[in-house]
Amino acid sequence: MGGQRLALLLISLCLQFHFNRSLNPFSACIPNTPCQCHLTAHSFTFLNCSQTLTDLPIFHSQNVINVTRLMARNAFVGWPLQLCKYSKIQILDLSGSNLNSSLVDFSCLRHLIHVNLSRTQLTQIPEFGLNASQHLQILDLSNNRIKQINAGHFRSMVNLMSLFLQNNPIGLIEHLEELFHLPHLESMNLISSEDRVLIQPSITSKQWMDVAQLWSSTKRSFVLRLRNIPFQSLLPTPTASSAPISNDAMKIILTALLDSTVVTPSTNRHCQCTELRGYQRLFSSLDLMKKYSSALFESATCLMPDGVTHARLFDRRTHIDLRCPSLGRKNFFSLLAAPSTASLLSATAYSALSSIVILLFSQY
Ligand SMILES: *[C@@H]1O[C@H](CO)[C@@H](O)[C@H](O)[C@H]1NC(C)=O
Ligand SMILES: *[C@@H]1O[C@H](CO)[C@@H](O)[C@H](O)[C@H]1NC(C)=O
Repeated sequence: MGGQRLALLLISLCLQFHFNRSLNPFSACIPNTPCQCHLTAHSFTFLNCSQTLTDLPIFHSQNVINVTRLMARNAFVGWPLQLCKYSKIQILDLSGSNLNSSLVDFSCLRHLIHVNLSRTQLTQIPEFGLNASQHLQILDLSNNRIKQINAGHFRSMVNLMSLFLQNNPIGLIEHLEELFHLPHLESMNLISSEDRVLIQPSITSKQWMDVAQLWSSTKRSFVLRLRNIPFQSLLPTPTASSAPISNDAMKIILTALLDSTVVTPSTNRHCQCTELRGYQRLFSSLDLMKKYSSALFESATCLMPDGVTHARLFDRRTHIDLRCPSLGRKNFFSLLAAPSTASLLSATAYSALSSIVILLFSQY
């Protein structure tokens, strides 16, 4: 280690000279590594290091102070301790490096705006502290080995706009509602590589009402990407008597989440007539042209009784296919569904007939 530090120091001296003269933007910069470097007044870029670098070189104290952009993809074998010396960094890309979660510490960098830590073997959300959080707008933690997240970690990132966490084996998300409160968050990708993802504790109706109030005053639209979390477990059923959530609040939430995808391929969440009615009514009352081709409409599903078909949660046809009774026509349908009547009709004729009847009655 000491030997390498000395080498880095010597190289730094040579590089200073080299950079002052060189016209070729990229040049070999660190012996015994394949690294190519390019240093300008405000930006420092490494190429082709292939995870051979143990630390960041310090070329010249003036450079260190001026650099605001550091691009070092696939560069490091560990956390670069000298990173703190580049205290003005705003844009930092360490993706593809091999970082040890417990050593990663950004609290020394108080100007960070864009941080890319994709594919860095992280097992937990790194420490940013208050200093490093406050200006952060884009954070990429995708393609790591993070198994659980507590969304409270992001609370101090009050300027965060995009959060990428996809392709982590996330099995547990705690306090998801914290993310909905970040005032500038526009998109977050939480698509886990795990088949089962738990949200704990589940978001209460009261918390959703607070979110709705916040979103209504700021006209939020929010792109959320989820997989293996049923939409029905994210939001309380609109008709549930135990956990009421007002229709107005539901409309605000659905409108804000219209471009989101909540894919539930492995869920065993079955389609239930009582739930479907509530969801579909609310959805059809959203006054937006694109609602029936929206990402949310396409992705939110429930499982039909055959155990195979995923039907659209917000689609009226699911209600019909499930032969759900229409409200106020209960007597008629119980008559139609009675075995004595049904036995007179072939299965297909019965199903076709009941669909037509339900169609007629659902044109209210
Ligand atoms: C990095 O390596 C690739 C292929 O290994 C090569 O094509 C490219 O020119 C190298 N970049 C620099 C700046 O040397
Ligand atoms: C992060 O870096 C990876 C490449 O290592 C790139 O594909 C990805 O787009 C970057 N993410 C952001 C948000 O810039």
